[in-house]
Amino acid sequence: MSSLLVTGGAGFIGCNFVRHVLDHTDHTVTVLDALTYAGNEASLAGLPANRFRLVVGSVCDPSTVDELVADHDITVHFAAESHNDNSLNDPSPFIQTNLVGTFELLQAVRKHDKRYHHISTDEVYGDLELDDPAKFTENTPYNPSSPYSSTKAGSDLLVRAWVRSFGVRATISNCSNNYGPYQHVEKFIPRQITNVIDGIRPKLYGAGLNVRDWIHVDDHNAAVLRIIDDGKLGETYLIGADGEENNKSVIELILELMGQPSDAYDHVNDRPGHDLRYAIDATRLRTELGWEPRFPDFRSGLADTIDWYRANEAWWRPMKAATEAKYAKTGQ
Ligand code: NAD
Ligand code: DAU
Repeated sequence: MSSLLVTGGAGFIGCNFVRHVLDHTDHTVTVLDALTYAGNEASLAGLPANRFRLVVGSVCDPSTVDELVADHDITVHFAAESHNDNSLNDPSPFIQTNLVGTFELLQAVRKHDKRYHHISTDEVYGDLELDDPAKFTENTPYNPSSPYSSTKAGSDLLVRAWVRSFGVRATISNCSNNYGPYQHVEKFIPRQITNVIDGIRPKLYGAGLNVRDWIHVDDHNAAVLRIIDDGKLGETYLIGADGEENNKSVIELILELMGQPSDAYDHVNDRPGHDLRYAIDATRLRTELGWEPRFPDFRSGLADTIDWYRANEAWWRPMKAATEAKYAKTGQ
């Protein structure tokens, strides 16, 4: 049994990770979360008080971070500003949380000699051409495109430097696009599902040929646990489940699964600098750590996700109007 400090545990992937850990291990969990617009205490409702607690605070606050890191065996760092479109409108919080926040955590795990796992993204590698058979591997050079992905790339490099220069006991994982319950309605899939529920036509950026490599959030989190348990210190693991789909086909599938005509969507302004395609080669994770996705069927995972948003309107309704008002300003 270990004690885990999970930063960003009130966000989409973090809250699913906390639930996964409490269900599948005997670890205890403390979440450190600033409860920004993206964090939601309701995502952590009903968890057992003898194994779980929430501390509201920022990863940029050195004294909070120092005290909590010292008190736990392992720190798992999910907290981030995570949305590309927001980073194009205002990069400032991305610099603070993603770079300065990671720096504070690294200083604390170094001081207290604690195990650290860093959650990152495939976007650090930039993008691939649509007709390129290649996928990202652990050896692909970093080439991020947006303020979001460049701060995540910078945070990964900080981790690598703290490993090499100070011997910090860390691992890094870079995952592709997650979907599943508790994802903020600013993100592509929940935005379209909740639009259809509200009678609003889904919004496709540009021509919609951009490809994302979808993975169910539980498969991501199971992989993170495998890396924490058996990953080689100082190493990077890519996480992906061979789920490449273009955005147009995802919108058409959502419409079909929700009983709407498959062309009942609008093309809206494209994202500036929009990455074309992401694709992960997860051979290392599969062969060295024996991980396999348990939810590789995107169609049925998407159907379950639609059911979750239909059944949990009270969770997403409070954030919907403000999110759409933000998109309206950029014609998206
Ligand atoms: P999210 O935006 O849903 O959640 C982020 C959480 O971090 C929120 O609870 C927020 O309140 C918290 N937070 C933000 N700033 C903070 C601060 N200064 N101090 C403490 N907490 C703070 O994000 P997500 O989609 O769950 O992503 C989690 C992590 O996974 C991020 O590091 C992201 O880069 C990475 N990632 C995401 C995806 C994806 O598809 N969503 C894929 C690969 C990697
Ligand atoms: O690849 C991993 C990354 O996946 C994570 O690091 C990020 O935190 C996460 O947000 C996600 O980034 P994307 O930019 O790929 O996700 P997003 O949900 O914003 O958009 C997915 C695709 O859908 C992208 O090509 C843009 C497009 N899109 C998005 C929205 C919100 C639309 O066509 N319409 C929309 O309304």
